[in-house]
Amino acid sequence: MFVRNKQLQYPVRVDRPDPLFAKQVQELIGGKYGEFTVMAQYLAQGWSLRGAEGNPTLTMIKDMLLDTAAEEIMHVEMLATMVGMLLTGASPEQQADGASANPAITAVMGGMNPQHMIVSGLGAMYADSNGNPWSGSYVTAGGNVAADMYTDAIYEMQGRLQTARVYEMTDDPGIRDTLSFMLARDLLHQQQFLAAVEELGGPTAVLPIPAQMTADKLGENSQYAYAFMSYAQNPADTTAGQGRWANGPSLDGKGQYSYIAEPFALGLEANLPPAPAKVFGGLPGDPVGDVQMPR
Ligand SMILES: [Fe+2]
Repeated sequence: MFVRNKQLQYPVRVDRPDPLFAKQVQELIGGKYGEFTVMAQYLAQGWSLRGAEGNPTLTMIKDMLLDTAAEEIMHVEMLATMVGMLLTGASPEQQADGASANPAITAVMGGMNPQHMIVSGLGAMYADSNGNPWSGSYVTAGGNVAADMYTDAIYEMQGRLQTARVYEMTDDPGIRDTLSFMLARDLLHQQQFLAAVEELGGPTAVLPIPAQMTADKLGENSQYAYAFMSYAQNPADTTAGQGRWANGPSLDGKGQYSYIAEPFALGLEANLPPAPAKVFGGLPGDPVGDVQMPR
C-alpha cells in the first residue's frame, strides 16, 4: 500500500520559463538513468526480494529499497513539476524568443520538444531528452541481492553524473537549488547501496557473483579465473599488466591476480557448415547442410 500527501519533498522553483531546458530535464525523468528508472528498479527489486522473513539483513535491505523507491517517486514528481513550470508560457512566440535569447542551446537542441506542445499539453513525459519513450528494459532487477546492490550504486552514479551535467547547463537559481537537493540525495544513494554490500559481508562475502560458483568449481578453467589477459601483439604496447587487476590478492579474497602477456588462442579456427536448403543461404549449385537440432 502506498499513501501520499500533497507536499513536494523539496521546493521546486523555476525563475523563468525555458521550454528548451524543459527538453533537457526530460533526460533526468525518463532517460535510462533517470528518476523513473530508479523508481521502477527499486520497486521491482524490493517487491521481488525473497527470503527476507526471519533474515534481519535482507529485511533491512528490502525496507531500504522500498523507502528509496518511494523517494524516487518524489523525485519524478519534482522533476515533472519542474518541466511543467519551465513550459509555462511556452507559446510559439516565447519559443522564438527563447531561441534568439539562447542561441547556443538552440543550436544544440534544435528548439523545444514539439511533443511538449502537441502531445502532453505543456506537461512532463516519461521520455528522455530526445523524446524516446521510457522503457522497462532500463530496469535491472536480477534476483541476486548483491548484484542488485552493485547495479543500484552504478545507476545512482550515472544518474548523478547526468544531473550534474544538466545542473551546469542552466544558470536559473531556482532550478539549481532544486537540482542541488537531488545531487545531495544521489550522493547518499550511490553510497547507500555500497554500504548494503557491506551489510551483506562485503566483497569477500558476495564476490564472485554468484558467490556459490567459485573458481574451484570450474575444473581446468579455474586457472583463468584470476588471470588478466593482454592481447597486445607487442607486449611492450600495453600498460594493462601494471594494474591492480593483474597483481596482488583478488578482491573476492579467494585468489591471486596474475597477468598473461602474450596473445594466445585456446580454440581452433571457427568454421560453420553450409545452411540447410530451405534457408537459401547460398547460390544454385552450392552445397547445402542438414538441419541439425541442438542436442
Ligand atoms: Fe532520485
